This record gives sequence, structure tokens and C-alpha cells, in this order.
Amino acid sequence: MRRFALLLSCLAVVAAGCSNESAPSPGAPAPAKPAAKMKVERDEHSYAEADKVAITDLALDLKLDFDAKTLSGTATYTLEWKDKAAKQLVLDTRDLSIDKVEGEDAAGQWQPLQYGLAKRDDILGSKFTIETPAQNAHVRVTYTTSPEASGLQWLDAAMTEGKKLPFMFSQSQQIHARSWVPLQDTPSVRYTYSAHVATRPDAMVLMSADNDPKAARDGDYSFKMPQKIPSYLMAIAAGDLVFEPLSQRSGVWAEPAMAKKAAKEFEDTEKMIETAEKLYGPYRWERYDILVLPPSFPYGGMENPRLTFATPTVIVGDKSLVSLVAHELAHSWSGNLVTFASAKDAWLNEGFTSYVENRIVEALYGKEQADMERVIARNELKAEFKTVAPNLQVLAEKPGDLKDPDNSSASTVYTKGAWFLQFLEERFGRADFDAFLRGYFDHFAFQSINSQQFADYAKANLLAKHPDKVSQADFDAWLYEPGIPPTAPQVLAARFGIVDSARLAWLGSGQLPPPAITGAWSTHEWVHFIEGLPATLKPEQLAQLDAAYRFTGTANGEIAQRWYPLAVRSGYAQANEAIAAFLERVGRRKLIVPTYEELVKTDAGLALARQVFAKAKPGYHPITTGTVQKLIDEAKPKAAPAAQPAAEPKPAT
Ligand code: BES
Ligand code: ZN
Repeated sequence: MRRFALLLSCLAVVAAGCSNESAPSPGAPAPAKPAAKMKVERDEHSYAEADKVAITDLALDLKLDFDAKTLSGTATYTLEWKDKAAKQLVLDTRDLSIDKVEGEDAAGQWQPLQYGLAKRDDILGSKFTIETPAQNAHVRVTYTTSPEASGLQWLDAAMTEGKKLPFMFSQSQQIHARSWVPLQDTPSVRYTYSAHVATRPDAMVLMSADNDPKAARDGDYSFKMPQKIPSYLMAIAAGDLVFEPLSQRSGVWAEPAMAKKAAKEFEDTEKMIETAEKLYGPYRWERYDILVLPPSFPYGGMENPRLTFATPTVIVGDKSLVSLVAHELAHSWSGNLVTFASAKDAWLNEGFTSYVENRIVEALYGKEQADMERVIARNELKAEFKTVAPNLQVLAEKPGDLKDPDNSSASTVYTKGAWFLQFLEERFGRADFDAFLRGYFDHFAFQSINSQQFADYAKANLLAKHPDKVSQADFDAWLYEPGIPPTAPQVLAARFGIVDSARLAWLGSGQLPPPAITGAWSTHEWVHFIEGLPATLKPEQLAQLDAAYRFTGTANGEIAQRWYPLAVRSGYAQANEAIAAFLERVGRRKLIVPTYEELVKTDAGLALARQVFAKAKPGYHPITTGTVQKLIDEAKPKAAPAAQPAAEPKPAT
């Protein structure tokens, strides 16, 4: 039983605050302001009642203990009371142990406050209700995190590149900030923050704040984030980290063995910032640095303000995967500046960002590269939409449809979202659409909004200003209907035509394309080549590809992500050793889940998945562990099928 279980008993005095629903406490007077004036919509993934009281500033004072794998200390909130009748501050927590809660009285004295921690909900965590009858301007919570905090990963020195110091990092999106700071953990609330963090003197600590490239490594660090951010952008990392400059305002933080290589791969970062600024206005966050994490980082990247967190799996030596930096940087406008008010409007962050990412890629690396990335994403969407429930194919999701905000449909929020904006761009023309988007980022800067607010703004500033370009019905179909609207513009990637011909020729004749052709292929062409192969191949065919291209054992995660599931489906056991090594080394969910999904379909595969997972688990992040564990637990394997008939190749877009 975890420690937090001891805290579950609610104080009788706050019984009303101990239920799991977020209805107002019985007997509470009607809200002071009429509902129409209440800007803040309740977010179903948070217990916070931000329409009554909102955090405007957070001050953290934390001890970071690598041995205990905990953060402990105080969080002090500055509060804006909006409802004069409110008597409680409700915060989100998950697996936190709360030691003390105090409120500052009118005389500046800290007085204890009563509080209760409700039973833990698997998705939402524990509602934390603090009794604040005096509507204190400042409240302070003393707490300790659990070593199993869902938003933190603690790595022993042996699991790092340099093997000298332990490492830790946070991943707060979607709703994991609450596992390391008690907060109103909803993007509808924005606040400034400061932090003081103490740890062992040889470890460097960084946050999503004003990191100083020249900071002395002494175990005592202070941070300020003067711009208002939502909780999912709270971030911290600590370990053996060194800095490599990229430009005046940007650089790379990484373990010493990785820093130079990472700086080379990300050398175009300043050009990316300038490109985005030209399109959408000044970069408003001062520095833009990139932190390269260990391979267990569960995502490709995370747009923590001023300090993007990035997986090392994109460092492949030829800059072919740096669209990840374009993406996380783009969030400095779409997401960090204009933020979705709740996860059900995730496309406002990810769809806009994927669109901007593609514009940066086009400006820096050319239209062919940008088109290839669009085709890959849209092919994935078409495949994914065969199984995604219709209500999750809708951009403006309805309340209640997205149960676990970690499991939204990426194809919907990223690809359909970006496709919608590409549709608008084509219809209105670049000049007008670029001006519109720039105006949108300015208009909603440092605010959290929902899809309706975007729709209203677009109606007034795009559709009405340029009539007869897009009908309201066509616009609404993108936002509120499942599937791909009939108005979706198509794209052809010329370079994929060559790949398609080469693949077809090989499938027909067994003749592989000559090195003169494949020698110029980048990650995207190889990804497209593999994605267009039949669902299964004969082991001899896989062996022929391996002999020519060495897919098995590839250091490129994007290729591994596609090749290993094909190998598993085809019963190509020669790849098993490399598959095990890949799944043990990398913890990025997107890269490894497709292989686990194939493995668990047969008895032999499931046995391998179990064996690999047992070895890999200590190094996986809690988010990855949760996903893989679920796949294994819910597996219904069949005996491996006999030799499979070759299927038709998938058509290219
Ligand atoms: N904000 C996301 C990561 C995220 C999304 C974390 C939802 C938790 C919940 C980040 O910007 C992102 O989109 N990362 C992608 C990068 C890719 C699209 C270049 C990823 O991790 O794959
Ligand atoms: Zn993103």
C-alpha cells in the first residue's frame, strides 16, 4: 500500500469537499456573477473551481532528493478570489503526501488551515480541499511526492549516458503536474511562478523558466517564470547536464557525451525561430533552449516554455528528424501563448502546432520535405481512423468523450487539426491566412481558449472578411464532424512516387532499387517504403531487405517503429534479438508501442513481450509502463498463424 493511502481519510469538517464530483458544495449561494460572464469553463479533468478562485502565482521551495526519489517542500500560492462566497480552495493532487497547510492572515502570520484529501481516482487523482473561510490571499502547502509520481522519472546513474550521476525529469502534460505540485491542474488557469530547488551539489537543475547557461553547479538553484503559464508547462530536470550554445538566445543542454552531437543536429534552431517570428510575430519567451533527455523520455518532445524537452531518438546524424524542434518551437505561439482551455480542445495546441511546424519545415528544408511529412501523417490518419471511435475523430470534442486525456487520438488532434488549417490556408490564400493567424496569436496571447472561441474569432476575422471563400457549413464540418471532410485538400509528394515505383518493382520482380536511387533517400523515404509494404512478407523477403538496407538493428527509431511490427507479423524471428534490444533501450511511447501491439497478438510474441518488458520496466517512464502494462494485461493472443499470403501494397497518398 502506498503512503498516500494513509492520507485518504477525510476530515468530517470538509466532508462536502471529499466527494469525487465537482458540483458546488450543498447550500453554497448562487455564483456572484451571471454565468454568461464567467470566462472559465470547468475542465472535466480537474477538480479545480477556477471560476471561484484562481492561482495567479506559485512559489516553490523544494528539496530534490535523488536517493529518496522525492521532491519535498512548500508550494505557496497567491490567490485571486472571484466568488466572494467561496470558502474553499480545491486543488488537484496525485499520490502526494500533504504534511501541512497554512494560510497567511491579515497580519502576515501563517495559520494552519483544515483540509481533506479525497479517495484517489485512477485518472484524476485525489481532490484536495482546503478550508479558506477568510479567503486568504496566500496559502502554503508543505508536501512530499511519491517515488512513483506519474509525472516524474527517476533514473539511477547506471541508466544514464555518462553513468556518473542519477537523473530525473518531469513530464506534466496532460495531467501529471498534480503528481509533483498540488495545483489547479487545468490549462484554463495561468499563473507566474518562481522556484528555489536544493539538491546534491554536483547535479544541475533546470526548469521551464529562466535557466542561466552560465549557472554555477552548486546544488542551489533559483528560477523565475515571469510569464503566465498553465500547469502542464511546469517542468523540472536534474542530472549531469552541460550547455552548448546554438545562438545568442538558444542552446542545447545534454549529458556531456551527447552535447556536441545534439548541438550539431539542432544547429538550425535559430533559423527556425527567425522563420516563425517572420510569420507570427516576435518570440516572446526570451531564451529558447533544448534539453536532450535520456532515451526513456516517453514522448518525442515537450514544449516546456524556454526549455523544450527532447528525446535523443531524433538525433540520427542527418537532421532528418529536426521537424521535432520546429514543432516544439512552434508551440511557443500555438499552445504556450494561446492555450487550449481543456484537453478536449487539444487540436488548438497540437493541430495549430503541426501546421506551423510544417510551415517552418517548408521554409527551411523545402516544399518536398514538408509534403513528405504531410503525406506520412495523413496516411497514418487514414489508417488510424478505421479504428478510432467517431466521437474522437471530432476536433471540438464533446464533454465526457475523452476519458483519459493521455489517450486522445493523435491523428485527430495533430493531423486533422493541421489539415483543417491547411484547407483554410489554401482557400483564403497564404497572405490573408498568415495575417489572420498572426492576429489570432496576438488577440489571444497568454489566454486559454476553447474551440468555440476560435470558431467565433475565425468567423469574424476570416470568413466574414473574405466572403465566398469558405461556407460556414464547410467550416463547421471540420470542427464538429468525424472523419475527413470532403473539402480536404490532397497533397502529393513527388519523391514518394519514386519510392512507390521502387517498392512495386521489388514486390513484382524481387529486384531491389539500385543504390544510385536509395543512396539519396532520407528517413522519410525509408519510412514510406516500409509503410507501403504488404501487411506481411515472407521471411526471405525480409532477409533480402535486411541484407541490402540493415533495417534490423537500425539506430533510427522512425524506421524501427515501422520495421519491427512488420517483422513480428511476418514471423521473422531473426529480428527478435534486435527487437528486444530496441524495446529495452528506448522508452518513447510512439516508437515502441506498435511493436508491443504486434507482439501481444500471438502466444510466442506475448511471451517475448513479457520477457522484454520485465527487463525494460525499471528504465521506462510511468506513462510508458502504464501503456505497455495495459497491452500485456489485455492481450488475447492467438497461436501464430501459418505462412501468410502476401497482401496488396497499401496505396500511397
Ligand atoms: N505537447 C506534445 C506532447 C504531449 C502531448 C504530451 C499530449 C502529453 C500529452 C508535444 O508537443 C508533441 O506533440 N510531441 C510529439 C512531437 C512530434 C509531433 C514532432 C511527440 O512526442 O511525438
Ligand atoms: Zn505538440
